[in-house]
Amino acid sequence: MKFQKFFLTGVAGFIGSNLLEVLLEAGHEVIGIDNFSTGSQTNLDHVKDKVGKKWKNFKFFEMDLALLKEDVLNDNSLGVTCCIHLAALGSVPRSIDNPINTNNANIQGFLNILDFARRQKLDKFIFASSSSVYGDNSNLPKIENEIGSPLSPYALTKRVDEMYAEVFDKVYNYPTIGLRFFNVFGPRQNPDGDYAAVIPRWLKAMKENTEINIFGDGETTRDFCYIQNAIEAIMLAVRTELKTHEIFNVAVGAQTSLNTIADTIKKELSIYGIKYSKEFNYVDFRAGDVRASEADITKAKITLGYDPKIRCLDGIKEYVKDNMLRN
Ligand SMILES: NC(=O)c1ccc[n+]([C@@H]2O[C@H](COP(=O)([O-])OP(=O)(O)OC[C@H]3O[C@@H](n4cnc5c(N)ncnc54)[C@H](O)[C@@H]3O)[C@@H](O)[C@H]2O)c1
Repeated sequence: MKFQKFFLTGVAGFIGSNLLEVLLEAGHEVIGIDNFSTGSQTNLDHVKDKVGKKWKNFKFFEMDLALLKEDVLNDNSLGVTCCIHLAALGSVPRSIDNPINTNNANIQGFLNILDFARRQKLDKFIFASSSSVYGDNSNLPKIENEIGSPLSPYALTKRVDEMYAEVFDKVYNYPTIGLRFFNVFGPRQNPDGDYAAVIPRWLKAMKENTEINIFGDGETTRDFCYIQNAIEAIMLAVRTELKTHEIFNVAVGAQTSLNTIADTIKKELSIYGIKYSKEFNYVDFRAGDVRASEADITKAKITLGYDPKIRCLDGIKEYVKDNMLRN
């Protein structure tokens, strides 16, 4: 792939900072945008340490996409061919606690950057959607064109984003690619706070030998996807010559239970001499949580050539190893 210049929103977040590292390592230029609402300077510093001299190809703007400063982006848009939009307020419980904030970031922010990309005639617009759009449709595995009603404000915002993308294709002939991520995990994912994802939260708790809560009986499953697979899917979307509006599931295509995740983190930590001595604490099921999730990834396989290399439990091993080397 020849060198390109990207807009990358959500660059200080988990997926964004991992993608930034890959893009800079490959010699691309990146204009990053983030408002640090959930992302961190530490994530950016970490990428800086890793990429060395290639850091000069990165320019950062602290900006809230809901209040997009178009003049700043305009001034920096020369040569940009692709926008990868990852910025959003994640977490279903966060959106239930504060639907307005989630709406501003995930719908207003999305529309601002999508419309900017269209008017700038950027060749490509790739955005993060979410498995939450499957909502109350309990069919397994989840197939792109069989969705249900959203079960949270967060899911609704992601569905609206997909609908805006579809409408922009129809009305303005501006096709985009949406990637429905399923429970991505890995290095630089925030383990702290009420809205942290389960894997980084448990890893931190087990390292500190503090209690972990498992909702329900622990047999709830998710299609947990290691960050490397998610990055592969994004890079395939960057490279594809598709000129139609498309949505793709991005996951492994397999279910893993919460009990298996907890046991595996515990076992992996023991390899590094960390013994977790507490019993897992089983608490009530969380309202709105679906019992099982698994993606059908056939469409991404066939259309993009997506082939997730890292299975869930191998991803946990990698993640624990990376975390132990880092701290
Ligand atoms: N991690 C997952 O499992 C998962 C699953 C499904 C979908 N997604 C989606 O993937 C994307 C990236 O997720 P992540 O896990 O890296 O989350 P993250 O919270 O680590 O990163 C999101 C980034 O967006 C930034 N941001 C939020 N609102 C903003 C705004 N208004 N203006 C500018 N920046 C803003 C945050 O500061 C943060 O750095 C999100 O759109 C998320 O909804 C993630």
